Amino acid sequence: MFIKGTFLYTPSITELTVEQGYLHIKEGKTDGFYEEIPQALTGEEVRDYGDAVIIPAFNDLHIHAPQYINRGVGFDRELMPWLETYTFPVEAKYRDIEFAAKAYQIFLRRLWACGTMRFSAFATMHAPGTWELMRQVERSGMRAYIGKVNMDRNSPEYLCEETERSLAETEELICRSEEELKHVKYIITPRFVPATSEKLMAGLGELAEKYDLPVQSHLSENKSEIAFVKELHPDIPTYTEVYNAFGLLRKEKTIMAHAIHLSDREKELLKEKQATLCHCAQSNADLSSGVMPVRRNLEFGLDCVIASDVAGSHTPAMNRHLAMCIEVSKLHALNHPQERPLQLAEALYLATKKPGRFFGKVGSFEKGYEFDALVIDMAEPELSGTFSRTPFETLEQFIYDGDDRNIKARYCAGELLDEEIWEK
Ligand code: GUN
Ligand code: FE
Repeated sequence: MFIKGTFLYTPSITELTVEQGYLHIKEGKTDGFYEEIPQALTGEEVRDYGDAVIIPAFNDLHIHAPQYINRGVGFDRELMPWLETYTFPVEAKYRDIEFAAKAYQIFLRRLWACGTMRFSAFATMHAPGTWELMRQVERSGMRAYIGKVNMDRNSPEYLCEETERSLAETEELICRSEEELKHVKYIITPRFVPATSEKLMAGLGELAEKYDLPVQSHLSENKSEIAFVKELHPDIPTYTEVYNAFGLLRKEKTIMAHAIHLSDREKELLKEKQATLCHCAQSNADLSSGVMPVRRNLEFGLDCVIASDVAGSHTPAMNRHLAMCIEVSKLHALNHPQERPLQLAEALYLATKKPGRFFGKVGSFEKGYEFDALVIDMAEPELSGTFSRTPFETLEQFIYDGDDRNIKARYCAGELLDEEIWEK
């Protein structure tokens, strides 16, 4: 198959490539650009998207699927009271499997509409609901890591697990997903240190090791949270080292959300472990958590990506998160002039190719990458022939003011995912 259009992608954080013409797709993977279709391949299907701009689809490595229905609610509080007042009550509703099935369908449809084809999600502590989410993603053709949340301390009685049962249910889901699912993988998901006992963290570290699984959690998001971790673990020097003490900082396989208030010692450890740090600027503003110094972290050699953290943030639309990360980094730079603000192409890289590595060769149109793409159309038909934009300007406008109506087609692993995927 050939896809015709104008392709924009970022082979590295310092490169934005623009290619106009035909992209050959072979077995779901990109197989090179052509100005004209070569003679030997003239029989293949051509999908012509005209003047549209085509970018790699978004990869969101930190999102709470059950919280989508709470987006925008409760941002008058900071993290800990926000969790207790707004988040825990909504997550408790997913005990009801019928409710979970409907709410997860609403979530997934919206994620698809916004152009996120791959993601790593927290479900809730409920195993049946988590399994339902995993199955829905598998049916959709999207790709994901999904974990049942583990939480057995400092949580309300209605949303708190018994340690052994939490571990047993986790192992069951690991085995079942390995047996029955192709596109959805299990990820070990302790909520965060305040909500997971030492015994639970140790058990999860063992499961991660036994099945060689990735781990996702939250780290150093909020000052009160950090103080609480210090109170709970006075003998461990830092928050990051608590995870490490229980085998939860797995090399190249760990996603930590926020990581705002880090000491140099923690940064060294996270760098050594090649942990992926999710920069969630919108959430960090909505919950007054702080500003991750993303430029400084990148220069230090930390693996930062841009993620949504719905519903700590108010939208799953990754284009808006790119814009927000750039806006926040500009404001941050006013007080830290040595930290250059994030550029738009850099932000695109941090939401496509950089997080894509969690899924293999994903997030770029370089040869051999799985073809995940969004076809973007920002044209104003009424102005046709009298006004036009360069491909890069079209990308800029989509990032700042585009929405699902501007995404004309979505591809995941070479497959067109259209409305019909919701009828399966
Ligand atoms: N820390 C622990 N749980 C959560 C959550 O659900 N959202 C955010 N943003 N931080 C958390
Ligand atoms: Fe989060």
